[in-house]
Amino acid sequence: MLLAAAALTSAQSTFERSSKRGLVFVPSETHPSDNQIWVEGTSDLTWYYNYGVSPSPAYSNRTQSDFEFVPMLWSPSNDFLSSIKTMISGGRNITHIMTYNEPDGTSSTGGSDVDPSVAATNWISQVEPLRKLGIKTGAPAVTGSPSGFTWLSQFFDACHSQGTNCTADFFPIHWYGNFEGLASHIGQVAGTYVNKSIWITEYALNNDTLANTQSFFNTSAEYFDRISYINRYSYFGAFRSDVSNVGPNAAMLTSNGLLTDIGSWYLGGAATNNIPSATGLGLRDVPGMIAVLVASVAGLSLLL
Ligand SMILES: *[C@@H]1O[C@H](CO)[C@@H](O)[C@H](O)[C@H]1NC(C)=O
Ligand SMILES: *[C@@H]1O[C@H](CO)[C@@H](O)[C@H](O)[C@H]1NC(C)=O
Ligand SMILES: *[C@@H]1O[C@H](CO)[C@@H](O)[C@H](O)[C@H]1NC(C)=O
Ligand SMILES: *[C@@H]1O[C@H](CO)[C@@H](O)[C@H](O)[C@H]1NC(C)=O
Ligand SMILES: *[C@@H]1O[C@H](CO)[C@@H](O)[C@H](O)[C@H]1NC(C)=O
Ligand SMILES: *[C@@H]1O[C@H](CO)[C@@H](O)[C@H](O)[C@H]1NC(C)=O
Repeated sequence: MLLAAAALTSAQSTFERSSKRGLVFVPSETHPSDNQIWVEGTSDLTWYYNYGVSPSPAYSNRTQSDFEFVPMLWSPSNDFLSSIKTMISGGRNITHIMTYNEPDGTSSTGGSDVDPSVAATNWISQVEPLRKLGIKTGAPAVTGSPSGFTWLSQFFDACHSQGTNCTADFFPIHWYGNFEGLASHIGQVAGTYVNKSIWITEYALNNDTLANTQSFFNTSAEYFDRISYINRYSYFGAFRSDVSNVGPNAAMLTSNGLLTDIGSWYLGGAATNNIPSATGLGLRDVPGMIAVLVASVAGLSLLL
């Protein structure tokens, strides 16, 4: 029985690898060893961001060419420009930055709730100078709701009223929902901001069945890899299923810290058959439990 299961697992093909793939990094306080899973072995992740200006301590031994850190100006701050310049003069080759996390959203959902004209003033002083140094800049990372388009349009208008064209090199997208909605949203962003590259910097099918979530994951990854103007993407699921705020099935780790199928596929590996669960232990992620089950089935057949 165990041999048959092992043969089945090794027969499953690995997922397509992609240099576009990165990590939305939310460090695990309770299980710090989880932080290394994303950069171990044959992981194909090439870059990460952590919503902040500075690299994460967990990756202090990684260089920009190993695992590119992309700083983010989460909300208006007058220290951003000098922080980036200090990192560059310290030898870190920063080539991309991101700006304002969900400025059209409130803090209850992780948004920075920023007034577009306040962001415009801050962008002109902190972001435009970096762009002049050749750093590629991300437009404000608005939510996937219609308010995102409204906010961005007000932001660019506010720059014009302040005498500047705020220019973004790429447009980050956040999306929670199904693939049809995601593809339509990407089309709308690409149609509004013509000839700009797009990064999908947070996405997941939240709160759905495992089958639907896996199907969404495969379809969206294949789509992102195929579309040339989508330059990068980072899946929102680098945490354990029992602490997931987008539902357990979207998570890349089980409640025991093992890679789920989606987690392994995202790193360019094969299915693990580890099942995420909202609480407690997933059945197939505990080798000891399989042994107990096998033993009890064997015991049962002996009794019969
Ligand atoms: C980097 O540091 C982490 C601990 O912070 C360690 O687990 C990992 O093995 C180190 N990796 C390399 C390549 O040195
Ligand atoms: C910085 O990284 C970019 C992109 O990888 C590369 O083209 C450039 O040569 C690097 N610059 C330095 C000073 O290493
Ligand atoms: C902003 O861009 C427009 C259109 O390309 C151009 O006409 C205008 O001169 C630019 N304004 C500034 C301040 O660069
Ligand atoms: C977009 O790029 C194409 C091909 O380079 C060019 O023909 C077109 O004018 C560009 N459109 C805009 C709005 O910049
Ligand atoms: C997702 O892709 C993997 C790897 O190619 C494949 O084994 C799996 O069956 C796919 N799942 C779905 C639901 O498409
Ligand atoms: C999605 O799942 C999370 C975690 O299980 C839960 O907190 C949240 O209320 C769910 N949201 C919806 C819309 O069901």
